Amino acid sequence: MNATSLAASIETLDATEAEAAVPALAEILRDCVANGASLGFMSWNTAADYERFWRDVATGVADGRVILLAARTGDGIVGTAQLHLIGKTNQPHRADIAKVLVHSRARRQGIGEALMQRAETIAREKGRNLLVLDTDEHSAARRLYNRLGWTEAGTIPRYALMPDGADCGSTFFYKSLA
Ligand SMILES: CC(C)(COP(=O)(O)OP(=O)(O)OC[C@H]1O[C@@H](n2cnc3c(N)ncnc32)[C@H](O)[C@@H]1OP(=O)(O)O)[C@@H](O)C(=O)NCCC(=O)NCCS
Repeated sequence: MNATSLAASIETLDATEAEAAVPALAEILRDCVANGASLGFMSWNTAADYERFWRDVATGVADGRVILLAARTGDGIVGTAQLHLIGKTNQPHRADIAKVLVHSRARRQGIGEALMQRAETIAREKGRNLLVLDTDEHSAARRLYNRLGWTEAGTIPRYALMPDGADCGSTFFYKSLA
């Protein structure tokens, strides 16, 4: 998908922008969980839980540990992704990708792919050449990651719960940029 046909612009949020974006990001997370994604939350979690999560992410942005991306359309922020720069001294080359989310009203327009491509570009710029992520084994994201050249390392059964309490396996992926 080239930039001219993409429905959204992809932005990197600084800590102040991340704080300001908390309500919009919380709504995206709420929507994804309500639509059955296993993202660390249950169906009974509240808006306050989602907002607390994003405020912690904003703290990570302020600390320089997290790079927070937002996909913006004329309707506001509709998607997001995070790049976590691993702080361990023996893993200076690694980063994790987390919470790749697109609001259900904005899916299947290439926004998820654009977020992933931008995260990869930033990882390269930061000297990170091994990327790792995981997703629930039944997620649409699994197709996205395979399409973008990620390698499936395997699935751990019963790793987490779905929002409705059912068991959920987690599939781990990696991508070498070296
Ligand atoms: C996974 C997720 C981020 C994908 O977001 P998205 O914006 O829909 O992703 P894309 O549009 O780049 O790709 C999705 C599909 O749309 C298709 N697509 C892309 N542009 C399109 C267009 N203009 N017209 C029609 N289809 C299009 C892609 O080919 C892809 O098809 P496939 O899934 O059959 O392979 C989104 O479904 C989501 O938020 N899911 C819930 C949260 C989640 O599970 N996140 C991952 C865990 S961290």
